[in-house]
Amino acid sequence: MGWMENRVVLITGAGSGMGKALLERFLAEGAKVGVLEFSADKAKQLKTEFGDQVSVTQGNVANYADNQAAVEATVAAFGKLDTFIGNAGVFDYFQSVNDLDGDAISAAFDELFSVNVKGYLLGAKAASAELKKTRGSIIFTVSNAGFYPGGGGPIYTASKHAVIGLIKQLGQELAPEIRVNGVAPGGMKTELGGLNAMGMADQKLDSMPGLEEMIENMVPLQFAPKPADYCGPYVLLASPENSGPMTGVTINTDGGLGVIRLFPGGE
Ligand SMILES: NC(=O)c1ccc[n+]([C@@H]2O[C@H](COP(=O)([O-])OP(=O)(O)OC[C@H]3O[C@@H](n4cnc5c(N)ncnc54)[C@H](O)[C@@H]3O)[C@@H](O)[C@H]2O)c1
Repeated sequence: MGWMENRVVLITGAGSGMGKALLERFLAEGAKVGVLEFSADKAKQLKTEFGDQVSVTQGNVANYADNQAAVEATVAAFGKLDTFIGNAGVFDYFQSVNDLDGDAISAAFDELFSVNVKGYLLGAKAASAELKKTRGSIIFTVSNAGFYPGGGGPIYTASKHAVIGLIKQLGQELAPEIRVNGVAPGGMKTELGGLNAMGMADQKLDSMPGLEEMIENMVPLQFAPKPADYCGPYVLLASPENSGPMTGVTINTDGGLGVIRLFPGGE
């Protein structure tokens, strides 16, 4: 029997990329899965693809009522909730403080933080009563941008550093019933979207030319992981048998950015 057999997981932003890989991995591990997804097309596609195995709620993570609706639908379908995964996110496409128009910063900041940070807090709040009943856990998708500059512009980097703080604060506040941890993937080819406020809502990371080659050349492990390659640590953190004493922790899965050789050629 798999570690996730008879467990119920709710994932935000599971319509593509990291979230969809997590959905597929948790189903393969024997879990039942609920989803909160903004895109109506992706929500419909998930229903067609996975049928009754998955409970899909179409809605916005930045809206508390939509998070509540997703928790309720998941519990109605599968009887309980063991793990909430905050994962939906948007990107600032590396717009630096030099690039950004002063007048445009405020709207861009609010839009990005409302999804990447507020969305995680609202989801955690909406899920917490059910998670207390199961002594469950919360997992947030962070990013290499939660640790280092340069994985985005200042708005995205600040949002992912904020998520690290949220993991620690919620880990403290929700103990002893609920464990709160994070996984910080490195770059991957996904549909990660830009901001309306920057006129980049239709931009997708997977259309950036040479993205995977750039990642391969940058990281010490010299390969460009797919979303599926990052799923293992989420399964570990969702499983109390394997990570029972862990809370407030973020597992770094960025291909080794923290051990980059500062002096190429030097030993
Ligand atoms: N792609 C990368 O290089 C990378 C690297 C590190 C971390 N991440 C993080 O991974 C997470 C998943 O992103 P991804 O790369 O798989 O991109 P993705 O766009 O493929 O997946 C994100 C999903 O979230 C949905 N979504 C966006 N805004 C939403 C909202 N307001 N409410 C509900 N759903 C919403 C999108 O429709 C999409 O289906 C994000 O938190 C992102 O910051 C991505």
